[in-house]
Amino acid sequence: MSFRLDFVVIEQQQNQSRLALTLHNLSDKPLAQWSLHFTFGRWIDSSSLTHGELEQTGSYNILTSGRKEALKPNGHFYTEFTVGTKPFSLLDDGIIDAFICSGNSTSLINPLPVEITAFGLQHPQLKRHTTALEAAAEINIIPAPQHLKPLGGLFALTPHTAIEIDTPLAEGSSRWISTELENLLNEKVAVHAAGSIHYQYREHLADSAYQLLVEQDDIWLMASTESGFSHATASLLQLLPSQPSHQADMAYHIPMVEICDEPHFAHRGMMLDCARHFHPVERIKFLLDQLARFKFNIFHWHLTDDEGWRIEIDAYPELTQTGAWRGPNELIQPQFTTISQRYGGYYSKQEARDIIRYAADRGIMVIPEIDIPGHSRAAIKSLPALLTDPDDKSIYRSIQGYNDNILSPALEGTYTFIANVLDEICDLFPAPYLHIGADEVPSGVWADSPACRALMEKHGYEDPKELQGHLLRFAEKHLSNKGKRMMGWEEATQGDKVSKDTIIFSWLSEEAGQKCAQAGYDVVMQPAQATYLDLAQGESADEAGVDWAGRLPLEQAYQYQPLAKLPTDDPAHQHVRGIQCALWCELVNSKSRLEYMLYPRLLAIAEVAWTAPENRSWADFSARLNGQFAYLDKVGINYRRCE
Ligand code: ACM
Repeated sequence: MSFRLDFVVIEQQQNQSRLALTLHNLSDKPLAQWSLHFTFGRWIDSSSLTHGELEQTGSYNILTSGRKEALKPNGHFYTEFTVGTKPFSLLDDGIIDAFICSGNSTSLINPLPVEITAFGLQHPQLKRHTTALEAAAEINIIPAPQHLKPLGGLFALTPHTAIEIDTPLAEGSSRWISTELENLLNEKVAVHAAGSIHYQYREHLADSAYQLLVEQDDIWLMASTESGFSHATASLLQLLPSQPSHQADMAYHIPMVEICDEPHFAHRGMMLDCARHFHPVERIKFLLDQLARFKFNIFHWHLTDDEGWRIEIDAYPELTQTGAWRGPNELIQPQFTTISQRYGGYYSKQEARDIIRYAADRGIMVIPEIDIPGHSRAAIKSLPALLTDPDDKSIYRSIQGYNDNILSPALEGTYTFIANVLDEICDLFPAPYLHIGADEVPSGVWADSPACRALMEKHGYEDPKELQGHLLRFAEKHLSNKGKRMMGWEEATQGDKVSKDTIIFSWLSEEAGQKCAQAGYDVVMQPAQATYLDLAQGESADEAGVDWAGRLPLEQAYQYQPLAKLPTDDPAHQHVRGIQCALWCELVNSKSRLEYMLYPRLLAIAEVAWTAPENRSWADFSARLNGQFAYLDKVGINYRRCE
């Protein structure tokens, strides 16, 4: 390659690091009128540069030399600058992607590739953290069922095994198990009245509870609800060995067992960020297969953010024509990875319906998130006439480095936009909930807008933050009229404007969730420190991920217990609907990286969500996890290895 970029930490203090960047011209030609385009996850103090000039939008930076001279053959450009954040300890903290531009083209950018050398961290590589697991047992169901009794003996599953259902409540599960068995056996499995896998309605079983009985000649899956049948199916699938005992007959021997089981928490979710990087439908379906297998029942679909709008909205085609794409020649600048090309994608309504149906067959409800009023840059750039207030001179910078990503509560267009988008999303998604984000609105926003000031005066608000509550209250009412309950991140409570009907997802800390529950909000506990699966899972510098909320090794994820500091009879516990994990995808741009971050921690969270604390044991879990690897290997999941 003709160009090389070196990036090193030269000094680190608690809240300030000095970095050096060197661009080498390894070609035999001068590089005239150059600019270096690179992505980097932290905010650079542009006034601290020793050489050159820097412009930063989110993670995207454009560095120019500030001089007319070309970069000579075999010459280099060197600069230093300051970043005012915590010390760097991961290679992923370095430059994510880069390209060079040369010439004075002001319209179309022609990217030239540049090689990025490994991030030069000042500290020695830390030890890789691995986890020693107990030996696997014969039955390794995760999450641990409430009661499981091995009966001795085996049921032989073959291509001749058929399924029988006695209730429409089991139709989704029968489609799911048929697909799974067809994948296993390479043959279609019949559903008819003389099947030996029986789905049977049992009125006395509670919502989501199930019983599973595997006998020598029959398998009984019993429940009173669709979700109960899904969970019974999940347990049965986990009893299947990953290899047939008779290759020629394709016979899979299932251990005879009796299981009675029900979940500890009603809400067992996972959030996937599809905005920062786009995950294709097939990747999501494969993830849904695993979520269902481990008895998650909520897929929280983060569909919009600063860096991309991912869902088709008929009223505003611009949202996906413009807002779903970023790149050097797009309206939205490149971010994170793949920055020299046009990058993006979105889900058509038809694709969303397909995912909703696919999830429903597996007992999973899809809850869409439309993140407002912050994290709205893709929408604002797509619909500037509707969503921009030219008189707003407020100065702010979001934590991700944007100064133009917050909807204005004083613009009529904002309310038209929210109403139209929410209406379409409500119609598209059958879930009785809709998540409206509400996170990370930075201070300074709306402070220097005459229209916002007038709105504050009209309503007697003293703090611009109250305007966030004002806008969210509109969303809450609008959703309520559509028969939906609003959900939001914990900042939705700021300004005290939304009602206690809104469900809060607490993410900043355990204490924040506890406070919301004590204040009377229903909460989903999602403290980053215990549930954010984009956090690195080991100590070494080359571990993938981020560490702003610390690192999250497998056992730490397993040991999480919501509201553990409160006595068990504290009424706040009644407000905890469940727990959720999240995969934010700034650095997750492939199936393999997604899986590396998720597995095996997803299985640990599954057990925290499903199994009552008194039935959980790390040693027992680690043995069962060991027994799950054959399955993960078989389906080709790139999980992080344990020893
Ligand atoms: C969040 O992590 N901003 C909810």
